[in-house]
Amino acid sequence: MNQIRVAVAGCGTVGSHFIEVLRRNRYALKQKTGLSFDLVAAADIQAEKGNLLPGRFFRDARQLVKEPDIDIIVELIGGIHPAYELVKEAILSGKSVVTANKALLSQYGEELMNLAAENRVYIGFEASVGGAIPIIKTVRESFVGTSIKRLLAILNGTTNYILSRMTMEKMPFAAALKKAQEKGYAEANPALDLSGMDTAHKLGILVRYLFHKIISWEKIPVEGIENIDQKDIEFASQLGYRIKLLAVADRRLNSLQLAVFPALLPVNHLLAVVEDVYNAIYLEGDLIGRSLLYGQGAGGKAAASAVLADVTEIGMKLNQGGYAAIYWPQDKNLVLESADNFSSRSYLRFTAVDRPGVLARIAYLLGKNNISIASVIQKDQNPRQAVPIVMLTHEAREKSFSRALKEINSLDIIRKPTVRIRMVE
Ligand code: HSE
Repeated sequence: MNQIRVAVAGCGTVGSHFIEVLRRNRYALKQKTGLSFDLVAAADIQAEKGNLLPGRFFRDARQLVKEPDIDIIVELIGGIHPAYELVKEAILSGKSVVTANKALLSQYGEELMNLAAENRVYIGFEASVGGAIPIIKTVRESFVGTSIKRLLAILNGTTNYILSRMTMEKMPFAAALKKAQEKGYAEANPALDLSGMDTAHKLGILVRYLFHKIISWEKIPVEGIENIDQKDIEFASQLGYRIKLLAVADRRLNSLQLAVFPALLPVNHLLAVVEDVYNAIYLEGDLIGRSLLYGQGAGGKAAASAVLADVTEIGMKLNQGGYAAIYWPQDKNLVLESADNFSSRSYLRFTAVDRPGVLARIAYLLGKNNISIASVIQKDQNPRQAVPIVMLTHEAREKSFSRALKEINSLDIIRKPTVRIRMVE
């Protein structure tokens, strides 16, 4: 078997880049591996795409499964249906699969991985998390013997790009999102990026291999960046912080805390300097100490690089014959901790009338709920209007924050709901 026959389902941003990258690297791959990687078929719902491609073309991707001479199907359709049906049928027909589909894997990953092992075929999914960063290979292979204690990561290129533009150029949110879409970073439905859901999908995939636990992404508490205001970015900067959308996993003895939320990071934090479309994954583990992986997290070329890596590796395994896959048992003792038990420092922005006693009333309700204030700033603005009062707190429980903010927001001196952003060290 000196030829690896590849088919691509979905010729959008990632698909079209992958087809180009495969064509350009054909000679180099042959030199490096001794194998000829050939695009033999492609599928896309838009018939016009077929005119640009060599080989067979189908509008229905599931037709690819019926073609007997395909070794690897690259699924780049995105979304759950019909990607799920295509991947399942491909595996059952003895074809290996490479996918960038984090939504699909976070919902059906375990079923598809087990089905692939039963059918002795491979699923490559490096492009599903962290774009061009080799994070899946690192956690599944390079860190196989390490017990991971903590993960802190920026896993979404679109939101990081938006926050960078809002911070560095004071660009309005909507304009920054439009730019991210033009650059091919955002999901077809950008709400997945903005709401933090895409980050939660990716966190769920990483948790499976870092902590040996299957967690449905729906169980992860998620907050997005939709409500991040330019004002908060500016106050954070003045206080020496950057706002980033983070995925967080903390392992205690037998419990795991998982969450996705925008957070204030000190400007000298390793992740605070990750700008634009870049992603970074910080890990702490018993053998590795601290480790940071950094790279381009979204965009056609970055994803195509990761897809090509999977195609090459699977092609080489198929060529060798036999079947080799690492089995990932579940840690039965590990339980997901309730978000009520989380605690953190927080940034609070109150919008209150400017008159004597206001600060005292807010401070009283925070104190009553066991929240201690670390610092306060009140900008002297127009005293006749409501003014922003910004506080940084010491560490306190989630429950304390929700109780305190409910009580404070119902005071007659408060003019807008209070903004709370967690702080991460
Ligand atoms: N929309 C995703 C992002 C693409 O912005 O990170 C890469 O998974």
